[in-house]
Amino acid sequence: TLSIIRHIPELRERIAEFRRSRPDSSVGFVPTMGYLHQGHASLIRRSAEENGLTVVSAFVNPTQFGPNEDFDKYPRDEARDKSLASEAGAHILFMPEVSEMYPDPIRTTVAVTGLTDRLCGASRPGHFEGVATVVTKLFNIVTPDRAYFGLKDAQQVAVIARFTRDLNIPVDIVPCPTVREADGLALSSRNVYLSPEERRQALILSRTLGQVPDWIEEGMTEAELSVRLRGKIRSQPLADIDYADVLTYPELEFPRAGMRLRNSDRPLLIALAVRFGNTRLIDNVLLFPQ
Ligand code: PAJ
Repeated sequence: TLSIIRHIPELRERIAEFRRSRPDSSVGFVPTMGYLHQGHASLIRRSAEENGLTVVSAFVNPTQFGPNEDFDKYPRDEARDKSLASEAGAHILFMPEVSEMYPDPIRTTVAVTGLTDRLCGASRPGHFEGVATVVTKLFNIVTPDRAYFGLKDAQQVAVIARFTRDLNIPVDIVPCPTVREADGLALSSRNVYLSPEERRQALILSRTLGQVPDWIEEGMTEAELSVRLRGKIRSQPLADIDYADVLTYPELEFPRAGMRLRNSDRPLLIALAVRFGNTRLIDNVLLFPQ
């Protein structure tokens, strides 16, 4: 059965008690901002399979939203989060107030250089510093053995894997595949913002990404592929491209200019961010050298 915990000392006590009673077991952790969907559920199920205790956090973290972003209207549904977390196998759902996580204005942050000045980091200044800082706080509160993150946010996974390594945080970061609707749209809490017409046109993201392996096989370079991606996405009149980039993974560097991507010896991340009206959607595909 699922326990709802809202305060840090009680959460620490519950986890300490689990470690005392099951010293050979492990703690899995799934951080979220709530409004849970089947993408989150897949991470929770994976954690429940691999650990004796699964902790899920649902906290809409104000420090990772820009001043003109959707913090105030980010969708919330605590009742649904409880039933979804419970059905997926979570034992503890940690739902702190902002005042619990940030009792004082924060003067210490975790900033990852290099990886965060591109893709979503370029369009959302300060975003990854907010993410890295809150995830560090949550890791220090939960002290998980493993933490589960979705590759739908591939740059976020790269950033989190990097600062945990750089700062010797003893947690295994487990990347998990993107869960999609039957028609290909990547699940996102923000999909509820889409009008029916925007929802139809948003399919261009997954459709475009689906063609990428063929285009790479044809012998395209990074420059040629970016042009092709943008052209394809622009076929949808409501699509406003933020970025459509091809980078190595997890370094997030541009592939060597002029190189045919099929000859890359590094994994490649093809990442899209596209606005439909006020809603910004992201999606990507990660390709590994043959
Ligand atoms: P949130 O957007 O709620 O996502 C929580 C976790 O679910 C992330 O690891 C995200 O990558 C994963 N996820 C979202 N959609 C998914 C999908 N369609 N398939 C698979 N996994 C998916 O990411 C955050 O919250 C926050 O930045 C957080 C890490 C909690 C820090 O505040």
